[in-house]
Amino acid sequence: MKNRNHGLQHFFMESLQDIYYAEKHLVDALGAFGARATNLSLRHALAMHGDVTQGHVFRLEEVFRLLDEPPVTKPCRAMRGIIKETNEMIDETGMDSATLDAGLIFAVQKAAHYQIATYGTLVAFAQTLQMEDSLIKLLYETLHEEKQADAVLTGIAKDFVNELALLEEEA
Ligand SMILES: [Fe+2]
Repeated sequence: MKNRNHGLQHFFMESLQDIYYAEKHLVDALGAFGARATNLSLRHALAMHGDVTQGHVFRLEEVFRLLDEPPVTKPCRAMRGIIKETNEMIDETGMDSATLDAGLIFAVQKAAHYQIATYGTLVAFAQTLQMEDSLIKLLYETLHEEKQADAVLTGIAKDFVNELALLEEEA
């Protein structure tokens, strides 16, 4: 069965516009989340992740250029929702606490996993659609960096933030 409007090429373009929107909004959100982080290592990690995310925006613009398509966004309700929920969590959680830090890590990891899923599929679709190697490489590099960011945040959570949050509960 042939469905021209909803084929892989269509999914690919829509997802590219979706993740372009998501990355752009995440740059701003990470700035705000980082400013709320209590722990300096987490603050630093979120600032770094913000810089890396801005790099992902530029990389996507390069992908659009390689496709000869204008870089347009498609509102991503998933990323909007994650950011909205995180802002609600910040409002509900005590300022300057390890508990807030644990919540921020949780939130940013949810965003990272949304992106890992998207970039993973974009790479797979691009390969199936036999897009050029340089384009696939750009998407793959970002996929790799999203996984790295996720691992760094897991490390911070497990090394000390979760334990500190537990101590706050017991205090
Ligand atoms: Fe990203």
